[in-house]
Amino acid sequence: MQNSPKRFTITAALPYTNGPVHIGHLAGVYVPADIYSRFQRLQGNDVAFVCGSDEHGVPITIKAKKEGITPQQVVDKYHTIIKESFQEFGITFDNYSRTSAKIHHNTASDFFEKLYEEGKFIEQTTEQFYDQEANQFLADRFIIGTCPKCGFEESYGDQCESCGTSHNATDLINPKSSITGNTPALKETKHWFLPLDKYEPWLKEWIVEGHKKDWKSNVYGQCKSWIDDGLRPRAVTRDLDWGIPVPVEGADGKVLYVWFDAPIGYISATKEWAEKEGKDWEPYWKDVDTKMLHFIGKDNIVFHCIIFPSMLKAEGSYILPENVPANEFLNLEGNKISTSKNWAVWLHEYLQDFPNQQDVLRYVLTANAPETKDNDFTWADFQARNNNELVAVFGNFINRVVVLTNKYYNGIVPKPASLSEVDLKILSELKAYPKVIESSLERYRFREAQAELMNVARLGNKYLADEEPWKKVKTDEERTKTIMYVSLQIAVALAVLSEPFLPFTSTKLKTMLCFSELDIESVWKDISNKDVLIPPAHQIAKGDLLFSKIEDGQVQQQLDKLEATKKSNEMMNSSPEPQKDTIQFDDFTKLDMRVGTILEAEKMAKTKKLLILKVDTGIDVRTIVSGIAESFSPEEVIGKKVTVLVNLAPRALRGVDSEGMILMAEAPDGKLVFLNPDDEKVSNGASIS
Ligand code: 2FM
Ligand code: ZN
Repeated sequence: MQNSPKRFTITAALPYTNGPVHIGHLAGVYVPADIYSRFQRLQGNDVAFVCGSDEHGVPITIKAKKEGITPQQVVDKYHTIIKESFQEFGITFDNYSRTSAKIHHNTASDFFEKLYEEGKFIEQTTEQFYDQEANQFLADRFIIGTCPKCGFEESYGDQCESCGTSHNATDLINPKSSITGNTPALKETKHWFLPLDKYEPWLKEWIVEGHKKDWKSNVYGQCKSWIDDGLRPRAVTRDLDWGIPVPVEGADGKVLYVWFDAPIGYISATKEWAEKEGKDWEPYWKDVDTKMLHFIGKDNIVFHCIIFPSMLKAEGSYILPENVPANEFLNLEGNKISTSKNWAVWLHEYLQDFPNQQDVLRYVLTANAPETKDNDFTWADFQARNNNELVAVFGNFINRVVVLTNKYYNGIVPKPASLSEVDLKILSELKAYPKVIESSLERYRFREAQAELMNVARLGNKYLADEEPWKKVKTDEERTKTIMYVSLQIAVALAVLSEPFLPFTSTKLKTMLCFSELDIESVWKDISNKDVLIPPAHQIAKGDLLFSKIEDGQVQQQLDKLEATKKSNEMMNSSPEPQKDTIQFDDFTKLDMRVGTILEAEKMAKTKKLLILKVDTGIDVRTIVSGIAESFSPEEVIGKKVTVLVNLAPRALRGVDSEGMILMAEAPDGKLVFLNPDDEKVSNGASIS
């Protein structure tokens, strides 16, 4: 019996556009959301999978200030990087929008106005932190202080990144302005608050009583503890100049709080998509038969389970999420992923460093998904999972099937003789897999679902290893045909079942199997229902390797990159060396520093650090031995203009007389840089004073 298609609205957290997307975002949100969306589409369901850039909020303003550009320039830059990298990575959003879009400004404004007009907000003048030097109110991340709950000293005004608690800035102990570092003053200002306390009884009923069983325990637990602690009215406006202006009289200089507008971004993205597709957006948000799901990371739980649902409830015409399958965090090589510390594997860089290997990262992130606790990504594990699982199990099985079918039968699926008990058992096990995988996916257990997919490949591999068609072909042609026929059925099942997890592999495999000519319609169900997936006489194509080995060198390169980041962070955090003892002006004038040009350079034999340079100092051409070989190759320095201390007493270094010193500075990553008088107007010999 064919079930009628179900409608799904699937949202993935809108990424902040103050940096690119990294593996933590992917593992926690986008890969599971994409697997789930692809899976539902394969069931023939009607899916709106929406996302977009979260372009308001203080982090964007801070980034713009830091880089000396406008917030709009920041969001334009990262929106493009993020959107393109998602697309290349195979995340199948039906729409990837942005909160600076007109449709979103209108949708969010209208939403606020409706609640305002219906008296759903409390209007209140309160004292908020104000930075008198910077002349502005300090919303959210503009305030840093000690978290009243866990004691973390760098908690933001709105949320503590250490314990995840969401609070008001005035709750912080020892608050400081993150703009000037000053202790802020308090100043009166008017804002609009959503009285969450009023929604408490309803939230209790909806979450605490209604979703105890079906929501993940990490999500349920956080919600319950919030509700048990008692909810308070929450400001939904801010004194900021970047965001959506508050659309009411007397709100000059105020914008909607980013966490008020961002989730409405899901609605705007759906509207934008529906407009393009000539559809009606409303059933996706208002029809009780629609199943709405929010894929998010754990730091977003309160916003998606308590605040946004209260907003929707206050508005009155919207449905609520059926589930919010939030994940925990992914760490990287034992440390917390951090955008500001550059401790991350950035998606756009991965796509450059590992071209056409999207599925490897998808696979590893799902295999290690932080579903119930924080997990760690390591490059060694990435390599091992690729080489020992994708290459050795999945790739190896397909390769053997495709190569042998081409070798023995010119790529034509052979007609089986009678099926043995083993064959029948294998084929019946195969039929059970769609349900098994489906059951895991419906419980948001993506690791488990993917492990079951790999079990299909294992089943095939074991079957081939037990049956050894490469031996039987010499003695029993009929049996060999049957083995290859059965193996080909497994290959088709893999092509179909792998689609949500490994979409690029699935496409490749379908091409190899000339899938478009198969009589398969509702593919996922066909695996369970049909006795023959790929019939005798069907022609398959020549093979191509599905996966390739990741070499040690590739892994080492990534580890080196992280090591450089670590060093650079250490340098940034380390305080500069203390100032040396004072010298008199006469002492300084004793130093004779000149502009020079490096004419020749060679490595000093048997040393790691030393280069022997010939330098034109303007006075003469002389030899200087310099400890820069770990930062520069000889070729790189030839022709460089440099600053030379020329009257340093000569000294012999490994038997070579060095007559002077090149002045260098050390960069944060430990590499040396020239103090480079790189101006054509200064010629060699010019004095430096
Ligand atoms: O935590 C974040 O990265 C937020 N930008 C997520 C927003 S989700 C939503 F509500 F839009
Ligand atoms: Zn805390």
